[in-house]
Amino acid sequence: MKKIRSALFYVVLMLLSCLPLFFTVASSQTQTCKSYTFSNNRAYSDCVDLPVLSSFLHWNYSQSAGSADIAFRKTGSSNSRWVSWAINPKSRGMIGCQALVAYFDSAGGIRAYTSSITSYDTTMLESSLSFGTSNISATFASGEWTIFAKLQLGSGMTTVNQVWQEGPMNSGNPGTHSTSGANGRSRATLNFANATAPLGSGGGSSSTSKNVHGMLNAVSWGILMPLGVIFARYVKVFEGADPAWFYMHVTCQTSAYILGVSGWATGLRLGDGGGETGYHGALGAILFIGGTLQVFALLLRPKKDHKYRLFWNIYHHSIGYTTIILSIVNVFKGLDILDPSQVWKTAYTVIIIVLGSVALLLEIVTWYIVIKRRRSQRHQPKYPPSNGGAVGYSTGQSHYGV
Ligand SMILES: *[C@@H]1O[C@H](CO)[C@@H](O)[C@H](O)[C@H]1NC(C)=O
Ligand SMILES: *[C@@H]1O[C@H](CO)[C@@H](O)[C@H](O)[C@H]1NC(C)=O
Ligand SMILES: *[C@@H]1O[C@H](CO)[C@@H](O)[C@H](O)[C@H]1NC(C)=O
Repeated sequence: MKKIRSALFYVVLMLLSCLPLFFTVASSQTQTCKSYTFSNNRAYSDCVDLPVLSSFLHWNYSQSAGSADIAFRKTGSSNSRWVSWAINPKSRGMIGCQALVAYFDSAGGIRAYTSSITSYDTTMLESSLSFGTSNISATFASGEWTIFAKLQLGSGMTTVNQVWQEGPMNSGNPGTHSTSGANGRSRATLNFANATAPLGSGGGSSSTSKNVHGMLNAVSWGILMPLGVIFARYVKVFEGADPAWFYMHVTCQTSAYILGVSGWATGLRLGDGGGETGYHGALGAILFIGGTLQVFALLLRPKKDHKYRLFWNIYHHSIGYTTIILSIVNVFKGLDILDPSQVWKTAYTVIIIVLGSVALLLEIVTWYIVIKRRRSQRHQPKYPPSNGGAVGYSTGQSHYGV
């Protein structure tokens, strides 16, 4: 028994230590354009992290000359995909885009050129743009495309609509790109003269507030809450862990709730900014209700031997498990919308798999302990009936329902 108990605390300790690891992995991968250095000795004074498609725009702008040197970067791509960055002087959409395009041609060389988009079924043939361009080139290395160009914008084009896109190659030519998800939202305004100006209407809210929203919610609803359930369900089976598991559970869930509600509030603000939330937003509201009901459950908890305790247990467990499952679903949905670099999705998936495996393991350990204890107590007086959980056992005076 002692061995199992120390194994359990070791597992809990490992789980807790995986939180800072998550932050480290995640933050080292939150590429912000400012810390990026170009390999070919190029440097740009300004840059913005574009809100979707792991893309970044770097530039030097001369107001007097009306010209901009730009570098558009897209990470997490491949040599069998095309990338494009465009200014649309007339509208926010695709038609009218003055695009820079890059891809590997069938001979294996990089093609970088301009294309003025006039129809939705364009194959992005080379054509000149409505403003002057020169020195267009592109590079590709470890999944990262970069297009360089000098744009002669002239006066009056300081704030522009920018559109960026990526898609598959189709027998040597750029193929049709997806128009849903991140590919349907890859546009924003751009103020060449002010890199700190918020990316306007096209792009919705800034990527920083989206990242804060994603981080808060993934950690609170997506990690801490399931961890709190693991504390409640598996630590309480150990003798002597009686009030301890309760405080661990309450501390974990309360901090998760506080973080989670702030995360939800940041999400509501993102929604006001014209974000397209769909059922992600609706699920968020349901989760808020579920979490709040659990807070009331904590406050209105009847005593262990109260006759309504059984109903309270059913209420607390059903809302709790439903909330956890929906939380995890919604974190994945949010990751789809936010479309951060793949490592975030991988990190979260790994954490969920680890939590799931630990829960499975502890479930087996719990049943083993309970059955063993029941056997050894068979000759003793009958223990009180379970108070509603799947597993119940008695240790002298105290009684637990799992
Ligand atoms: C951008 O401006 C900076 C500072 O003025 C300069 O050092 C850099 O070479 C410029 N970059 C390009 C690509 O022209
Ligand atoms: C284009 O690039 C060449 C060499 O890379 C450079 O000498 C030239 O000044 C550049 N032209 C412009 C307009 O930036
Ligand atoms: C740039 O935009 C930010 C945010 O809107 C604003 O606070 C700042 O004053 C602007 N700077 C300039 C030089 O216009």
